[in-house]
Amino acid sequence: MIKRFLFLLLVISSFASCKKAEKPTQVGLIAKNAVVVSARAEASQIGVDVIKKGGNAFDSMCATQLALAVAYPFAGNLGGGGFMVYRKADGEIGSIDFREKAPLAATRDMYLDDNGEVIPDKSILGAMAVGVPGTIAGVFDIHEKFGSLPIEDIIQPVIDLAYKGVIVTKKQEARIKKYQPLFPKANKEPIFLDKPWKANEVITYPELAKTLERILENGKDEFYKGETAKTLVQFIQDNGGIITEEDLSKYEAKWRDPITFTYDDLNIISMGPPASGGICLAQIMKMLEPFHLDEYGHNSVKSIQAITEAERRAYADRSFFLGDPDFVKIPISTLIKDDYLSGRMLDFSFEKATPSSEVSHGNIQIIESDETTHFSIVDPFGNAIATTTTLNGAYGSKLYCSELGFFLNNEMDDFSSKPGAPNMFGLLGAEANKIEPEKRMLSSMTPTIIEKNGKLYMTLGSPGGATIITSVLQTILNVHEYKMSMQAAVNAARFHHQWLPDEISMEPNSFNKTLITQLEALGYTINEKDSPVIGKVDGILVLEDNSYEGGADRRGDDTAIGF
Ligand code: DON
Repeated sequence: MIKRFLFLLLVISSFASCKKAEKPTQVGLIAKNAVVVSARAEASQIGVDVIKKGGNAFDSMCATQLALAVAYPFAGNLGGGGFMVYRKADGEIGSIDFREKAPLAATRDMYLDDNGEVIPDKSILGAMAVGVPGTIAGVFDIHEKFGSLPIEDIIQPVIDLAYKGVIVTKKQEARIKKYQPLFPKANKEPIFLDKPWKANEVITYPELAKTLERILENGKDEFYKGETAKTLVQFIQDNGGIITEEDLSKYEAKWRDPITFTYDDLNIISMGPPASGGICLAQIMKMLEPFHLDEYGHNSVKSIQAITEAERRAYADRSFFLGDPDFVKIPISTLIKDDYLSGRMLDFSFEKATPSSEVSHGNIQIIESDETTHFSIVDPFGNAIATTTTLNGAYGSKLYCSELGFFLNNEMDDFSSKPGAPNMFGLLGAEANKIEPEKRMLSSMTPTIIEKNGKLYMTLGSPGGATIITSVLQTILNVHEYKMSMQAAVNAARFHHQWLPDEISMEPNSFNKTLITQLEALGYTINEKDSPVIGKVDGILVLEDNSYEGGADRRGDDTAIGF
């Protein structure tokens, strides 16, 4: 009887939410030649200008990455790191890891007190939270390998923007206000964001402009071995940090093989470890492939159930298996194999939720904070890039080097501060991602490129900590399964499950109450309040006539510009 009642409710709610699903009426920017979509119009414009000047997607990537450090200091950075996946016009694919590293003096227990307890905020706020930055190495390595314009053509427009300044948006005003109480806790001296900036005011960045001028003059060695390196190390140490000149001089970005897998007729190319994005995305999509999501309907009870259960299992594996591949052995091919993944879903039934406590491994909550940024670029030659870059938290560690003009990351918090935590599975889970000198901390970043029929189809990615993977996943499914435009796919309401805590986070006021009641009746805990937005996806879709549609996320100031 109860089963029948539930089934009826399922049918009604699936129907209701199908009707509510966003139809492909929202269309993003359409352009014939090239598109750059990033968190700020100023950065997208610089990226497009570089292409108009004859540059390719790689030149544009370097310019956009640096421009975001000026236009979007919340997450854009010189003091952080990131990942880029690329697909060249000739079909060559690859990826580069410019993730931060733990300093040489880092130790496994560096964030614990004498009783072995985690010291609140030590891995989050201030100089002890900072990992060795990778961004400048990434930019220069990408330019050296694939760039076509002289480096002046890429860096000079960014320097000009830094001198000219950037207008404060309404959303930026709110962000600055929100994080202002933390800046004095991380910095000995006042910083420029202590001032109450209002929308429409202009912030100039003369110190950052000067740093970029020296980098333009002396190349990446300026940042890792030159005057900038010395100033940076002195500054970090004066503020109580442990990064040395040796740490900076030893930093190298790494070209890595991307993770590739198929889903229906799509060939998906995403970032491998130390980013968990590619493996988790592959696991979730492979677990979902046998289900008929298109028939269930977008954000219907059945779709949400299937996606949630696949996410739950993938995030449990993430916690146990994944870390820096230079330090831990990761069974990548097994983890994304069909038979392994179909086995993982054997205990799933639409009748009721599988409790996370019954899914291995362990009880470690993935704690990630909430700002990063993604940008996607396609050029007139047919090259495509997807880059996700971050300071980790909002304005990173909040430590701002006024002399050099940029914020430092708090990426050290992406390590497991306390290996051996609460339970047997937790212990093992923490091991793969424990702190070790020169190790890269595990990331959720998921820059992704998709081919269809052997041709470029989509490039996308997102910020959002642990929700990055599930935001990218849902956007792909929105286009492929639910036939949405790129913009509609980006706009659509998102939900997220990460194994622990055992709950589905949902964007508030975006899912109807009947649907939520139905999921609760099936044993799912719904959390609407703690997640104002989930992810902030920027993507580009290749349309049938070979033009591009840029989808910029309305949750931020994100803007697609093209021609
Ligand atoms: O690498 C990671 O997974 C995190 N440091 C990303 C942080 C993030 O996305 C915050 N953004 N919204």
